[in-house]
Amino acid sequence: MIVRPRRLRQTPALRNLVAETRLSADMFIYPVFIREGRGIVEDIPSLPGQKRYSPDTFPLVLEEMARCGVRAVLLFGLPERKDETGTGAWDENGVIQQALRVGKKTFPEITFIGDVCMCEYTSHGHCGILHGHEVDNDETLEYLTRIAVSQAAAGADVVAPSDMMDGHVAALRAGLDAAGMKDKIVFSYAVKYASAFYGPFRDAAGSAPAFGDRRGYQMDPRNAREGLKEARLDIEEGADMIMVKPGLLYMDVLRAVKEISSVPVGSYCVSGEYAMIKAAAAKGWLDEPRAVAEAAYSLARAGADVIVTYSALDLARWLKEGR
Ligand code: PBG
Ligand code: ZN
Repeated sequence: MIVRPRRLRQTPALRNLVAETRLSADMFIYPVFIREGRGIVEDIPSLPGQKRYSPDTFPLVLEEMARCGVRAVLLFGLPERKDETGTGAWDENGVIQQALRVGKKTFPEITFIGDVCMCEYTSHGHCGILHGHEVDNDETLEYLTRIAVSQAAAGADVVAPSDMMDGHVAALRAGLDAAGMKDKIVFSYAVKYASAFYGPFRDAAGSAPAFGDRRGYQMDPRNAREGLKEARLDIEEGADMIMVKPGLLYMDVLRAVKEISSVPVGSYCVSGEYAMIKAAAAKGWLDEPRAVAEAAYSLARAGADVIVTYSALDLARWLKEGR
């Protein structure tokens, strides 16, 4: 034998030397849930290890992020009141707007990303404006634009539309530019599937639809080529970055999108994917640090430039410890 692949696997130093994929904390985005109120730091039953904060306690998690070297946060809001048109989402004093102002003031070096959608704020739990039982795409665009502009005005550096309406990136870009915010970044959930793996998130955010499902706007899990169509459209509309979601189950799509994308591509390892690992680890069936690292390396290997994950802080610590 002349070729012996095992030569390069002999020591940790050698394996690290020739590793094809690297991870670093500054490519992670940490999702955080903010609810109305004061002095709140509460556990989220469906997402063990994750917490909800109120705007005033939000800096606690930013401090922890800074300690771990994670420098980007993605915000989801739980408003005090919900209505048909999700008014709380673009309220100047809405829960996310408050958190953005506090966060930006205390940790200006962190990148603040606002999730732009309506489902957490509407009484019916759908991601847009309803006519009967149907979401009206074009009318919804006007509301999404208001949300994005108000988040950006409150301090969001990046707006991330997760609604899956057609034309959403163009609408947000035009709205931000018209409001004099040309440098605000649009990070689109371009390729987002109608997935059962959002279950724990919907418990955490109280955003499950009151009737029906999201299959009329989110993508069919059977389709990969359609993902390329969505990615291309959002890039043409001016998305600065795009995302494929979920993460682990859609690595084929992630790779395909990466190959055609002219902008950075993110992968969102979603709540159900996090919960699977957590639940198995709690039973002692797998080693959580190793499983989480393997999942993140796999996303990076498949093409993720940026990884959105509930494990961001843990993983950053584990990487620092050289685990
Ligand atoms: C809102 C939104 C959802 C997620 C991110 N933004 C839920 C949904 O579309 O129902 C899911 C995130 C996760 O499961 O971790 N549209
Ligand atoms: Zn939504």
